[in-house]
Amino acid sequence: MPISQERLERRLQQLTQIGAIPNGGVNRQSFTPEYKEAQKLVADWMREAGLATRLDAIGSLIGRREGQESRAPAIMVGSHIDTVLNGGRFDGTVGVIGGIEVAQALKEDGIGLNHALEVAALVEEEGARWGSGCLGSRAMMGLVTGEVLQRRDRDGISMAEAMKSMGVEPDRFRDAKRDPKEIDCYLEMHIEQGGVLDDLGYPVGVVTGVAGPLQMSARLVGKTDHAGATPMNLRRDALVAAAHLVLIAQRLAKEASPTAVATVGRMEVKPGNFNAVPGEVFMTFDIRDIYREPRDKMEHEIVAAVEKISADNGLQHEIKEMVRLEPVVLPRKIVGVIAESCRRVGVPAHELPSGAGHDAQIIATQVNTGMIFLRSKGGVSHDPQEFTEARDIALGTEVLYQTVLALDK
Ligand code: HGY
Ligand code: MN
Ligand code: MN
Repeated sequence: MPISQERLERRLQQLTQIGAIPNGGVNRQSFTPEYKEAQKLVADWMREAGLATRLDAIGSLIGRREGQESRAPAIMVGSHIDTVLNGGRFDGTVGVIGGIEVAQALKEDGIGLNHALEVAALVEEEGARWGSGCLGSRAMMGLVTGEVLQRRDRDGISMAEAMKSMGVEPDRFRDAKRDPKEIDCYLEMHIEQGGVLDDLGYPVGVVTGVAGPLQMSARLVGKTDHAGATPMNLRRDALVAAAHLVLIAQRLAKEASPTAVATVGRMEVKPGNFNAVPGEVFMTFDIRDIYREPRDKMEHEIVAAVEKISADNGLQHEIKEMVRLEPVVLPRKIVGVIAESCRRVGVPAHELPSGAGHDAQIIATQVNTGMIFLRSKGGVSHDPQEFTEARDIALGTEVLYQTVLALDK
């Protein structure tokens, strides 16, 4: 089999070094010097695999080789190489390195495809700096507005400024839009980030749908007061209100549906003195479901709770939507092709939904899309302990290779 587990493992190890943090994890944010260095390394691998490389107008790296039918649309294989803060080594990277490995295997086997083949490292999938998830795929589908480029990160740097500092012209972002007819199908290999495959003992899985994340922030403003001199009935304590909202979000998710989830992942308390009543809290809500109706019901109930608890505690509040991605069901035709590829490779073809969001769910709104999952040890992800066996990555890449060949026919 032309897929080289050794080369996959070596490249993953090399990429991990860029943005590596002491605890074995990775912090590689879009539009930073380390991200640019990682893009250069990945571009070298793309060229070694016979792909011509370019940066699109939003800063995504795309490698392409033409098909034998000159006007045939492309089979695109993609994922991302940006990470969350304090992230793992496998989230996103396995899909880009695996796509390059498929291109290299085709080249080494001297196999020409009818379709063009593109491998994409889509920029800013995580949205860790500006709350702008799936930026590269949204720009490719023409779904990005200028607003997101003006958002500022924790250090007050706007995305537009960061893009400029890395040689990407922010004003041209609309040029990243692709005509969906240019893309025959999109395939993404990604770690599961949950524990279903690991519990079952399966190396890979076939993704049937992707949950839709709705991410929003709330800023609660009360009054900073002296912790000793302020009687309880005179306080406007933003953190007490926020604490109620954390528990309400948890209860709403448990009630909404068996697949609904809600997370308050970030909370900043001001002024942060142990002897001052917190006058201000910034908090984020990440709510998801693979069904839209319970997800939207959670949204409405959380917004109502923020309004009521703010009023009850004499607080001002400001709610901002950061990302709203719709849940998608992936086309059965491609699910079937991937399942058949699993059988050809000799691994179980277990079907499962994705609770995590992916570029695939954006592209699936306009292009036939499929996803292959790789087993996540212990279901850990978005953490340095994230782990996937090299053997599983190689098996998943063989499934990806067979799927590309099958879809090319
Ligand atoms: O948040 C997510 O679901 C993905 O990892 N960006
Ligand atoms: Mn990811
Ligand atoms: Mn992620």
